[in-house]
Amino acid sequence: MTTARLGINIDHVATLRQQRGEEYPSMALAAKTVFENGADQITIHLREDRRHIQDADVPVVKKVCDEYSQPLNFEMGCHPEIIDLAIKTGPAWVCLVPEKREERTTEGGLDLIDPENFKRVSEATKKIRDHGIMVSLFVEANLPTLEKANELGVEAVEIHTGDYARDFQDGMDLTPHLEKFYEAKNFLDKYEIGCHAGHGLTDLSTEKLLKNKLFVEYNIGHWIICQSVFEGLGKTTEKLVDLFKKYPVED
Ligand code: PXP
Repeated sequence: MTTARLGINIDHVATLRQQRGEEYPSMALAAKTVFENGADQITIHLREDRRHIQDADVPVVKKVCDEYSQPLNFEMGCHPEIIDLAIKTGPAWVCLVPEKREERTTEGGLDLIDPENFKRVSEATKKIRDHGIMVSLFVEANLPTLEKANELGVEAVEIHTGDYARDFQDGMDLTPHLEKFYEAKNFLDKYEIGCHAGHGLTDLSTEKLLKNKLFVEYNIGHWIICQSVFEGLGKTTEKLVDLFKKYPVED
């Protein structure tokens, strides 16, 4: 049985630490806890303003990933010094995301249609892939954008699920989102580009996507850390892992 992969974004463990400038909670312990409970990957996002993950966290989390022989998915904007840190660290994946200083969290996918942006992403992608690191691009489920991603030869794209997740929470009709996700999946499958998902997802909004067998990987962060306040990080991870097992992508 093959299940979709569960990547846990532990940024908000660092948010709690940075809030007080303390040494705790430990990023290493967070990473170990999610792997001990069945997660497939850790995701961290080093932001330009360093509001949660710090540069020093990156090798710490990478070491735990190596101990568990699991991939690190390192998210970043196209900032040369962060890309250099990624190359030095050697994660399995770099996920390139758009980043605006004033945003509370990532607000949408990369604009690959704008020629200037496309050039920046293209140069960053080439540099990272030349160092043997797989690249995923965080994009909207929109065909012209996916065609541009395909031109770059990336190994995967991560489809922005934030608007879907918002509408799920608000009880809106999800059909338009699901149709776009199917269209994206069919395109990506044709070109053997991994179809990943992330942003704003909860257990219930993820379950709907799992049932529809839309994505091979999900990166989930904020909801998991919030739910951990009540259930603990280990238990929350374990319950999600069990949910993924209910909906195998292949038998
Ligand atoms: N994927 C990407 C590309 C992101 O930028 C984020 C947020 O950093 C996530 C996944 C996780 O989103 P959330 O914390 O809303 O689950």
